[in-house]
Amino acid sequence: MVHGPLVAAALFGCGDTPPTPPPDLGDPTANLDAGDRGRFLLGRALFERLATPDEGLGPLFNAERCSDCHDQPVVGGGGARIRVVKATRFADGRCDLLHAEGGDNIQRRATDLLAAHGLGPERIPAAATASARVTAPPLFGLGLIGAVPDAVLLEAADPDDRDGDGISGRLPRLPDGRSARFGRKGDAATLRDFVVSALRFELGFTTPAHLDEIAVNGVPVPPGADPARDPEIDPVALGQLTDYLRFLAAPAPDRDLPDAARDTVARGQALFRQIGCTSCHRETLVTAVADTPASTGAGSVAAPLADRTIRPWSDLLLHDMGEGLANVCGSDAAPAELRTAPLWGLRHRNLFLHDGRASDLPAAIRAHGGEAAAIRDAFLALPAEAQADLIRFLRSL
Ligand code: HEC
Ligand code: HEC
Repeated sequence: MVHGPLVAAALFGCGDTPPTPPPDLGDPTANLDAGDRGRFLLGRALFERLATPDEGLGPLFNAERCSDCHDQPVVGGGGARIRVVKATRFADGRCDLLHAEGGDNIQRRATDLLAAHGLGPERIPAAATASARVTAPPLFGLGLIGAVPDAVLLEAADPDDRDGDGISGRLPRLPDGRSARFGRKGDAATLRDFVVSALRFELGFTTPAHLDEIAVNGVPVPPGADPARDPEIDPVALGQLTDYLRFLAAPAPDRDLPDAARDTVARGQALFRQIGCTSCHRETLVTAVADTPASTGAGSVAAPLADRTIRPWSDLLLHDMGEGLANVCGSDAAPAELRTAPLWGLRHRNLFLHDGRASDLPAAIRAHGGEAAAIRDAFLALPAEAQADLIRFLRSL
């Protein structure tokens, strides 16, 4: 019986190096040096660590650790076991994130100490015009996404639909002018900023930049209801948590396809392009060269993430997806606008769309409306066999 390494030698011949297999799901990206790998591991331990109120959890929170929500199929993934309730007000074309009423993230849990003060958990404010229960997206490959220069994203943007194809992608902007590629509604400019928001709004941690606890539906947390000293996380730990996500490898497509499936997948991929799915689910993006500024908040693009062609299958732009998918708004996103969902790693998932409403891929496609309506109809007009090929392609990602 010939074992693995010998088979590889036989296949590739003496002297040839076999191609390095991509990292497993949940592992760090290839070619990290010892220092980066160490920070990845320390950050992952923080991501999985159960927090207590003495350490900073709460007084309002949704879960006790990052991996309570981000653990499918492995730590760093997504999840629907705990959904986050969001509520916003959209009036006169403007989005109100309801900061005065405690913000758009409605924390569903409170520490015993806060409850003893007669406060929490939060309720959806009466002023809200919409609410949603959103699932946690997988976090694989976000460092690469942060390494793509704005200019690459802007190549595909067409906010006024000048080319008349019915598809207008828009790169959302924060009030301070920076572009926002993280979050499904374009909520954060950098990975680090998103990590800070997650700490504050999901776990109830104060951070070096935000020393105050978030108010309970607008009512400030009474002194004594939160024993931990602020900030509840120090800059070193915050950096490690960010580096964990920065170096968490992108999902690789299925490499063990039988020959017959290979043909089906190739046909499905060609159809995906032909009918126009790629006008939003863009085929490739390129990351910046090393040491240029990155949207990870880590200063500059690290060498292992630099100069790479990546396939998240998204333009990372906002699109009007129609009334069916509309609910909450974002600081620069109307209720119907959503960022094109990256499709890499789709084969590891079983619930789709921002609120997990679709439990199979055809249902996720049928829910596309707005700018995607004509392309959705083109999919529905395909013969059943062609539709199946396209779905098989998606399931190989
Ligand atoms: C209670 C569940 C929950 C917990 C706990 C949680 N998250 Fe999330 N996370 C979500 C949801 C829901 C979203 C998607 C929000 C949206 O729709 O944009 C998200 C999105 C993200 C994103 C943006 C992904 C993207 O594609 O842009 C990052 C980064 C992230 N979370 C990191 C973390 C970190 C770090 C922690 C721990 C400090 C954490 N999350 C804890 C539910 C959670
Ligand atoms: C106008 C832009 C646009 C076009 C065209 C488009 N999509 Fe999407 N797609 C999106 C957006 C935005 C989402 C996220 C919707 C949500 O989260 O509710 C999405 C989500 C998805 C999802 C679910 C992914 C997830 O993470 O849950 C699948 C699968 C998908 N699209 C496949 C397709 C296919 C197949 C086509 C072609 C028939 C297509 N899309 C065409 C913008 C588009």
